[in-house]
Amino acid sequence: MTKGKSGTVFYCQSCGYESAKWMGQCPGCREWNTFVEEPVSAPAQRGGAKMRPGEIPRPARLTDVVVRQEDRISTHIRELDRVLGGGIVQGSLTLVGGDPGIGKSTLLLQVCRLLAGEGRKVLYISGEESMVQIRMRADRIGSFGESMLLLCETNLGVISEVIRREKPQVAVIDSIQTMYEENVSSAPGSVSQVREATGVLLQLAKGMNLSVFIVGHVTKEGTVAGPRVLEHMVDTVLYFEGDSHASYRILRGVKNRFGSTNEIGVFEMSQEGLKEVENPSQYMLEGRPEDASGCVVTCSMEGTRPLLVEIQALVCRSNFGNPRRQTTGTDFNRVNLLMAVLEKRCGLQLSGCDAYVNLTGGMKIQEPAIDLGIVLAVLSSFRNTALSSRLLAFGEVGLSGEVRSVSMAPGRVAEAQKLGFDTCILPQVCLEACRKSLGDGGKMKLIGVRNIRDVIDKLF
Ligand code: TYD
Ligand code: MG
Repeated sequence: MTKGKSGTVFYCQSCGYESAKWMGQCPGCREWNTFVEEPVSAPAQRGGAKMRPGEIPRPARLTDVVVRQEDRISTHIRELDRVLGGGIVQGSLTLVGGDPGIGKSTLLLQVCRLLAGEGRKVLYISGEESMVQIRMRADRIGSFGESMLLLCETNLGVISEVIRREKPQVAVIDSIQTMYEENVSSAPGSVSQVREATGVLLQLAKGMNLSVFIVGHVTKEGTVAGPRVLEHMVDTVLYFEGDSHASYRILRGVKNRFGSTNEIGVFEMSQEGLKEVENPSQYMLEGRPEDASGCVVTCSMEGTRPLLVEIQALVCRSNFGNPRRQTTGTDFNRVNLLMAVLEKRCGLQLSGCDAYVNLTGGMKIQEPAIDLGIVLAVLSSFRNTALSSRLLAFGEVGLSGEVRSVSMAPGRVAEAQKLGFDTCILPQVCLEACRKSLGDGGKMKLIGVRNIRDVIDKLF
């Protein structure tokens, strides 16, 4: 450990980078003005060499370890179970991060309610709200079982004692930034405190087979230690995101030791707490304009689940030498690149045009499979020709204008068919597989394309 003059060390409050001296910019995460001086905590004493032969643990054979099915607890919220990889793993630590007010406390309170409803002992520890406030929130959500316990406390020593005595199956810590460990002298929310507190919880969870949910706020200012510091300490990291103006919320797995990480769960905030959105595609496409130019529906895979989203493009003549380009929900550079490909390979005069490309519904998608959708939206707006509102397009577009294959094409086509789409434009290489999986009963018309010239010939 690098130590400062008087036993202090500087931590970046955003990523936990450690330095002996103060720095303006963090070399770790490139954030400015995030270093704060904190005292060095004494390293924990643990004898390695001093162990007597009888105390040395014996490694077990991997094949001898049995995994029992009941090691996972279902939350009865399907969207959450999927993101967790099939339920809460006993003895695991899960971090739920997100902006303040996004609904972390609400979601976890709902989880507690469902678990307590099954007679499981649940302990909800809040350092942010009073019992009365939590009760008021709980009343909006529904009725709670007897085994749901509340504790308003921020001292981790006290919390550990309570957990040891009550032996709950699941505990919620809301939020880690308010908790403090007495032995660490820095303020709650600082990197050392957050790290120490998580360490204590980790020991408790593994020792008692207790599943712990930790709430962590993310703030852009870097004044509160970002949960990024503890990402590597916990088993699972979930981020709750969404537009504060829109009512839907997306729960995204960022790290998961027990499952896949690219699953998402979609929720909607209502008067009675969060509701699951079972069919997010339909939800995203609601209120879509019919027969408007520049609008195309595409399909992105979120984990194993296809999600249909609408891409809107507005291309108009620029009044300035430097055309204006703007994107929402998709990569700015990717859109510029695709427009350059269109200009070079199809001779479209796009360099004199402003272009705005939006993914509606506030979704953020990076997957290259939506390239063809972006290209079609730009083309449709440029030509001022509306495409059928029952048309779907997906495929990756390469620099020479070729349309490349994407993964899980049949799944995407099936989802589109389920939602009443009748035409699908897809990479030629994926055509056979999709045709086979649709079978004869499929009413969907599949159009395979090799490159974007093909697309123009077949559609415009
Ligand atoms: P909250 O769970 O307190 O957010 P966090 O813990 O992430 O800071 O989010 C609460 C927000 O959701 C708040 O703005 C009020 C709103 N809300 C509803 O719209 N309906 C409800 O039933 C509840 C409980 C909250
Ligand atoms: Mg909260």
